[in-house]
Amino acid sequence: MDIPFSRWHPAIEQRISRRRFDPDLPISPEILGDLDTVCQKFAPFSCARSVLVTDPTESAFRGFLGGYGKVTGAPAFIAFVGNVDDPHVQEKVGYTGEGIILEATALGLSTCWLGWFNEEPVTSIVELHGEEKVLAITPVGYAMMAKDWQERSMTGLVRSHNRRPLSELVHGLPEERWPDWVRTSLEAARLAPSAVNRQPWSFEVQEDSVLVSVRTRGPDFRVTRRLDCGIAMMHVEVAAGACGCTGQWEFLQHPQVARFRVSSRDSYPELISHNRRCQPG
Ligand SMILES: Cc1cc2nc3c(=O)[nH]c(=O)nc-3n(C[C@H](O)[C@H](O)[C@H](O)COP(=O)(O)O)c2cc1C
Repeated sequence: MDIPFSRWHPAIEQRISRRRFDPDLPISPEILGDLDTVCQKFAPFSCARSVLVTDPTESAFRGFLGGYGKVTGAPAFIAFVGNVDDPHVQEKVGYTGEGIILEATALGLSTCWLGWFNEEPVTSIVELHGEEKVLAITPVGYAMMAKDWQERSMTGLVRSHNRRPLSELVHGLPEERWPDWVRTSLEAARLAPSAVNRQPWSFEVQEDSVLVSVRTRGPDFRVTRRLDCGIAMMHVEVAAGACGCTGQWEFLQHPQVARFRVSSRDSYPELISHNRRCQPG
């Protein structure tokens, strides 16, 4: 399945993590069917897949450190599964899973990436093969209209709305030489969700490419930081596509993650008219 750039690009700004869902608002069978179809079809890497579970048990959402990740009322969840034999499984699962999260957002649903969840109830429902593991899950549903105190305090605790400025994250080609798609892509990458909002990425702008690397203080958090970087990769590509630029990813060795090189530019991208944030360069 090709990435629906003009559908997923607005979802990047609309998405926020929600942890309290309205138990009285079920998801219609049509919307569940649409989401399930995208879970099955959007699988760009053989080692990463997404499984929609429509009869979840609340024990899957265990909460962590005083309620981080405590989720209530969700009528469904999606498991993000990866084959851990693949050396780039984390970034591939992050990239694939964020595509599904953006689709759920476009369908009007709320989500929250959860790296801390109860494995036992999840793996008793999701069938795994060989070296597969569930690397993360997200609840899916309609969030309560207002955040309760616990959800508000959780958002405040991890400072969910804060994002680092691009000046702290980007190096390489000076800004005045950035191709027009680069600013839109980097702004989109900056908005990517990450575990405890640590934003563990940096970006190097090169001629016709953006290189994503992990900012790391040591080897211990290396693995999940690469999953976060996979999420940022999806945002880079969606925004580039919305500006009429498509390309390919080349996966790299730690601390680099992957380089996105633009291979085709639409000189009159129909999509630009849908997206006022893509300014001609
Ligand atoms: C890989 C990953 C794992 C996460 N794990 C958890 C979790 O276990 N519990 C939780 O409450 N939030 C979790 N989050 C949500 C982040 O805290 C949230 O995305 C971040 O604070 C930014 O807020 P936003 O998503 O509202 O933009 C996770 C996010 C990512 C990307």
